[in-house]
Amino acid sequence: MIQAPRGTFDVLPEDHARRAVIEAHTSRILGAAGYRRIETPAFEATELFARGVGEATDIVQKEMYTFDDGGGRSLTLRPEGTAPVCRAYVEHGMHKLPQPVRLWYLSSFFRSEAPQKGRYRQFWQVGAEAIGAEGPDTDAELIVLLAELLEALAVRDVTLKISSLGNPETRAQYRAELARYLHQHEDALAPEVRARIDLNPLRAFDSTDATTRATMEDAPKLLDRLSAEDAEHFEAVKALLDDAGIAYQLDPALVRGLDYYTRTVFEFSSTALGAQSGVGGGGRYDRLIEQLDGPPTAGCGWAAGIERMLLAATDLPTAAHTVDLFVARVPTASSDRAFAISTQARRAGLSAQLELAGRSLKGQLKHADRIGARYVAIVQDAGIALKNMESGDQQELDTAAVIPTILRGSRLA
Ligand code: HAM
Repeated sequence: MIQAPRGTFDVLPEDHARRAVIEAHTSRILGAAGYRRIETPAFEATELFARGVGEATDIVQKEMYTFDDGGGRSLTLRPEGTAPVCRAYVEHGMHKLPQPVRLWYLSSFFRSEAPQKGRYRQFWQVGAEAIGAEGPDTDAELIVLLAELLEALAVRDVTLKISSLGNPETRAQYRAELARYLHQHEDALAPEVRARIDLNPLRAFDSTDATTRATMEDAPKLLDRLSAEDAEHFEAVKALLDDAGIAYQLDPALVRGLDYYTRTVFEFSSTALGAQSGVGGGGRYDRLIEQLDGPPTAGCGWAAGIERMLLAATDLPTAAHTVDLFVARVPTASSDRAFAISTQARRAGLSAQLELAGRSLKGQLKHADRIGARYVAIVQDAGIALKNMESGDQQELDTAAVIPTILRGSRLA
């Protein structure tokens, strides 16, 4: 039996209602703030992610689905949305539009990670990007919007961590300083941390080893090494969040798995989730558009995982699905008349389902009850019996009277 590939899943009709609620809230919340929806291709030139996300990241090194298009060009299923949206911004000359250009997306992404709860190889993200504004109010606006989305969805046990990465120059200096510190304390570090000092010293902050953690307490922190402008920007973001009543924790060791970040980075996590606790995160990427051969353009954004929001929001309300009319018929009656009634009912704005399975009349009534139909029209050899499923009343009608009767009943209800 052929099954869905490892790490993927089917979104079945019964799963769709909760996803639709997320989409509706996103569209409402982001739309009200001037964000407009964008969709980019599911695959892009591999170089976009190598340059944008960063050659040295886990995503680019290990997690991309890359293939040859048959003509010698390397393509990759998108592992994230920021680099593609920035590519589209440059390609369509969006720098000529009033800035910032505010965009949002709800799309699926692909990463070849080891599957577990909340971690899939094809997953969905809702994301927002504000491109062309460098002020701290942009960062704060984005964070407030994600907080509002998570609140609207009643995502449980959420905490927000924020930090600032400064700029690439101060970060490089800091990395060297941290590597020197780690080399000085090599004896107190776990072997895997020691092995990566020069490759990626920041990883030392993620270690679960007790003596490594103790050593990292006294390690130099990037937040203390920011340039004056970057420090001021970060202070302003925090002040705006304070004013907006958004609670956050400072996490000087907050590392995100993408290389394009500058200045503000943030992450919302939920303890309701287990190991994959990141619900959504993002930050500022003021150098990315230039790296993609665009004009120097600031940017900031976030993405949140749909599946993780679904997992952490257990009591998402779903829209009740109503069926106004089920069209049944006695076996000897004309199927054309039944077909015509269901079509006319839908044209009149009702939801109407036609019996297609050849059930007995008793079976048809049972099915109408199961799908919660408000009315059943039983097409007889002559005329129609219209049954109100709520009251149990049944009346004999001419075909032409069926739809007006239901519409009148709907108005009365
Ligand atoms: P990210 O942190 O890599 O950021 O992903 C954002 C969210 O996508 C995560 O917090 C998580 O909820 C979800 N996610 C990531 N990987 C998986 C997976 N394998 N399975 C299920 N869910 C997953 C980005 O992608 C950046 N583009 C965010 C951004 C936008 N930064 C600036 N603008």
